[in-house]
Amino acid sequence: MIFEPDERRSPARNIDAMKVIPIHGARGPGAQEGERLADARGRPLRDLRISVTDRCNFRCVYCMPREVFGHEYKFLPHGAILSFEEIARLARIFVGLGVKKIRLTGGEPLVRRDLHQLIAQLAELGVDLTLTTNGSLLAKQAQALADAGLKRVTVSLDSLDDAVFRAMNDVAFPVARVLEGIEAAAAAGLAPVKINMVVKRGTNDQEIAPMARHWRGSGHVVRFIEYMDVGSSNGWRMDDVVPSAEVVRRIGEEYPLEPVDPEYRGEVAERWRYRDGAGEIGVISSVTQAFCRDCSRMRLSTEGALYTCLFAQSGHDLKNLLRGGASDEQLREAIEAVWRAREDRYSEIRTAETAARPKVEMSYIGG
Ligand code: GTP
Ligand code: 5AD
Ligand code: SF4
Ligand code: SF4
Repeated sequence: MIFEPDERRSPARNIDAMKVIPIHGARGPGAQEGERLADARGRPLRDLRISVTDRCNFRCVYCMPREVFGHEYKFLPHGAILSFEEIARLARIFVGLGVKKIRLTGGEPLVRRDLHQLIAQLAELGVDLTLTTNGSLLAKQAQALADAGLKRVTVSLDSLDDAVFRAMNDVAFPVARVLEGIEAAAAAGLAPVKINMVVKRGTNDQEIAPMARHWRGSGHVVRFIEYMDVGSSNGWRMDDVVPSAEVVRRIGEEYPLEPVDPEYRGEVAERWRYRDGAGEIGVISSVTQAFCRDCSRMRLSTEGALYTCLFAQSGHDLKNLLRGGASDEQLREAIEAVWRAREDRYSEIRTAETAARPKVEMSYIGG
């Protein structure tokens, strides 16, 4: 165990899911040169999502509700979080194991100081490198990120209506500044930008059509995400979910749509294009149409724990090995062991009972 969660977590929060369990080295021989690393369900390891901070300057109601993430909440201390050098070393090992895409997440990744320096180190790995941001600091940082080697960004934006957006981010952050961030990203060459909107019924579902209308013909791609039961603090209920089929129907009534083939196996978003050629949208349907069968994503937490699912109940402690002087080979074997044993398929087995279980928070593990 690398920390005593009870000491630093808010009592209001269920901390069980932040528990990390030690890795006991590789089970059986490691993968041979050229052999494909697959998990217990035959899924390859292709994606690595790295959370670089558990902090965020927003308090989105569905992710970091104020009642839980208030003044008393204890975020990770600096010494507990991986340094850029540690992250880059692990990322290189992951690439050696077949990872083709790396996404930086948070919390909000752009609140981590000098993030462009990490981007520069990761850009050397030659993989698809991107990040997910709330856009609030993008206008300031887009050019430096692009110069460091970032290729594209995904920006979360839940509404174009200023009042709705301010209420959802719960820090009264104005929409206009996120739009400036998106423009700055495009101007810096980080286009097309993907724009993620989490749809929560009764909160922002009236914003689906305006969002589609606004981004049609812009070259950017808006994706509508079904509100999920991640973490334990957002009080998720099935009634809050707007099924993607309804999103597609609602937009299609105004602007006819047709399906687009996936770009690659295991693509998270289902793609649709406007029949009039004004671009495409995506829908992400973790609740109504699980995509676990092809899930090739591993997640690395800010403090160096591996999570094999967004809905995991515990992580695997890699930092202890890393800081204990393990060689690259030992780290590689440990990561392989975690991946080989992986059986997760949470979205396929979701029930009201699983939704109520303690799980890792989205703000801790990233989207
Ligand atoms: P792109 O290559 O940019 O399209 O990446 P992506 O499709 O993985 O998209 P992104 O990383 O932006 O993910 C979009 C959203 O999908 C996330 O914010 C999550 O809400 C959800 N999501 C991503 N990966 C998973 C996953 O493995 N499981 C579940 N249940 N949801 C996921
Ligand atoms: N359901 C769906 N998506 C979520 N995100 C955060 N919490 C949830 C949730 N409960 C999304 C954010 C952002 C990404 C980091 O994850 O909106 O796009
Ligand atoms: Fe909102 Fe993203 Fe911050 Fe969560 S991490 S509070 S979704 S901006
Ligand atoms: Fe992958 Fe878990 Fe999401 Fe399923 S629920 S797609 S296994 S991260």
